[in-house]
Amino acid sequence: MLHSKIGGIGYYVPERVVTNADLVKVMDTTDEWIQERTGIKERRYGIRHEETTTTMAARAAEIAIERAGITKNDIDFIIFATLSPDYYFPGCGVLLQRELGITHTEIGALDIRNQCSGFIYGLSIADQFVKSGMYKNVLMVGAEMHSTGLDYSTRGRNVTVIFGDGAGAVVVQPTEEENKGILTTHLHSNGEYAEKLAFINPGAHSGYYAKKLGEDVDYGYPEAEYGEMFLTQHMMDNGQVYPVMEGQFVFKLAVQKFPEVMMEALNKVGLKPSDIDMFIPHQANLRISQFVQGKMGLRDDQVWNNIQKYGNTTAASIPIAFCEAVEAGAIKSGDLVCLAAFGSGFTWGSALIRW
Ligand code: ACO
Repeated sequence: MLHSKIGGIGYYVPERVVTNADLVKVMDTTDEWIQERTGIKERRYGIRHEETTTTMAARAAEIAIERAGITKNDIDFIIFATLSPDYYFPGCGVLLQRELGITHTEIGALDIRNQCSGFIYGLSIADQFVKSGMYKNVLMVGAEMHSTGLDYSTRGRNVTVIFGDGAGAVVVQPTEEENKGILTTHLHSNGEYAEKLAFINPGAHSGYYAKKLGEDVDYGYPEAEYGEMFLTQHMMDNGQVYPVMEGQFVFKLAVQKFPEVMMEALNKVGLKPSDIDMFIPHQANLRISQFVQGKMGLRDDQVWNNIQKYGNTTAASIPIAFCEAVEAGAIKSGDLVCLAAFGSGFTWGSALIRW
């Protein structure tokens, strides 16, 4: 039966390293606090005016395409996952198509959100397209340029210290090899706590959700019937244009949902946690990964963590870590790789891959 595999994988992180000590210069935080709570030592920031979410994605995609043994003209569909797009619209999918110089082929490009689990959602979509025989070379990327949209004052320190920039890409292709490739994917969401980890403004909500949730928040909307509400000066002046996060709430749900969705995938294919050769968690926080590792009974050599170097790169974190592990020789042919993610939405998911 036709199923899909990852034919090529690549990643790109910007050259500019921003250490915890660099952040201490602009906000009230410490290297100790950041490392103790998150494990992060440094992260990368894209070069302003030169790099964007899309350009980083293109660099990662070029590597993945070459390793898949194809050229960019063979790509027949693009899936782009990001929460930090270059433009509000159009999405990064078409910008990536242009950046790669494949506009003459007029292939489809799909933008997805899904935040931290964006890569697993995208991989699952690519898997379905390839399995059905609709496409042969699906380029799936996760990329983030967080650094342009964070609050660098002390007010934003709980969020800002966590995030970094980067991109990862895979080419999903058909295979007839038995027991090889993407074995199963599992996707979940629960919108009940959408605002616990969110980037609220600018947006078209017009205060509806705040009212519904009984929150007394002033967005400075104009009285005029046709006044602009998407982005107001009040939002800008009052720091309402940055990501917000209830860290402990997110943490508690994450450590519950990661193992749950990993077990769902393992049960589906009749395997056990001890069968996992490499677990690649979304790099949300080193403490979350360590907690999940313990709960699943995995050894250190069965888990790949790199948040120490790159921070949390949201949709890019899994393909970056995956690619790094492959390049380091930590994932060999025939290994069982488990991917899992949890994040804003809340959305979460898992995938099992026979490499
Ligand atoms: N430096 C110094 N102090 C800080 C910082 C900082 N960067 N950030 C917050 N603090 C302070 C707070 O103000 C608070 O001070 P107070 O006690 O005087 O009020 C104190 O530290 C404790 O704050 P908490 O938010 O309770 O800290 P916590 O121990 O929960 O750690 C953290 C915060 C690291 C965010 C943690 O809750 C966490 O990791 N949660 C999971 C969130 C996560 O992983 N998000 C990313 C995944 S989602 C995604 O990828 C989109």
